[in-house]
Amino acid sequence: MRIVLMGAPGSGKGTQSQRLVEAHGVPQISTGDLLREAVAGAANAATATELGLRAKTAMEAGKLVDDAIVLGMIRERLSQPDAAKGFILDGFPRNLRQAEALETLLATLGRPLQAVILLNLNLGILFKRLTGRRICQDCGRVFNVYTSPAGTPPHCPKCGDHPRLLQRPDDREEVIGKRLEVFEAQTKPLIEYYQKAGLLHTVDADADVETVFQRLESVIAALEAG
Ligand code: AP5
Repeated sequence: MRIVLMGAPGSGKGTQSQRLVEAHGVPQISTGDLLREAVAGAANAATATELGLRAKTAMEAGKLVDDAIVLGMIRERLSQPDAAKGFILDGFPRNLRQAEALETLLATLGRPLQAVILLNLNLGILFKRLTGRRICQDCGRVFNVYTSPAGTPPHCPKCGDHPRLLQRPDDREEVIGKRLEVFEAQTKPLIEYYQKAGLLHTVDADADVETVFQRLESVIAALEAG
């Protein structure tokens, strides 16, 4: 399975990628996660890299990180052995230049994309999903304060009751607006690009996690059936 999961910030790309990894055993390759790892390294003065510092500045402002940085990370990650059996690209590509570079890279590897699946959702819902998102500091599991059962503190299946929850710095209201603008201006043109390439599938992502997952699985089953 070689797919891209595309969608606005908060559309559920990370949540659904994790489900697909469990179901299909192929790695999730998230440029957001790769960049956050680089930024975490940059937080320590001893290991700070220029790359990490530049990524941090762009991410905290809700802007895209330089294509050269992101493309370097993707080339490196796709060349690792686990990606040979397939991959789920989450949050990449994000503009036309990245999409063209990906096409060239995958052609060189002889592993072209099979599908690009767009998680489609209206902006009002996205805003609430992002402001409500919390992440378990210990295992990385994603929660949402609005969808946790009312009055109960979240329970993390790995870390137990009262997990240490963090809010991502770019989930502040003022940064979310910028991220949504960047999606409209730079990532949305990819919808037409992949439509023309005959690769685009759209899934309605305005439903609970399990329902959206089943919708994705239907698209994937149809792809695998040929
Ligand atoms: P990245 O980490 O990729 O963030 P994003 O695209 O903005 O997407 P999110 O992670 O915010 O949302 P998601 O769609 O994964 O939703 P999630 O499943 O978490 O990028 C961050 C930054 O890195 C960018 O702004 C940019 O600076 C940089 N960057 C990354 N890639 C780049 C690239 N290629 N080029 C340049 N720069 C790049 O869900 C969100 C919330 O909703 C959670 O709380 C979840 O529990 C909840 N939720 C999910 N699904 C449902 C559902 N069905 N019902 C109810 N709640 C749900």
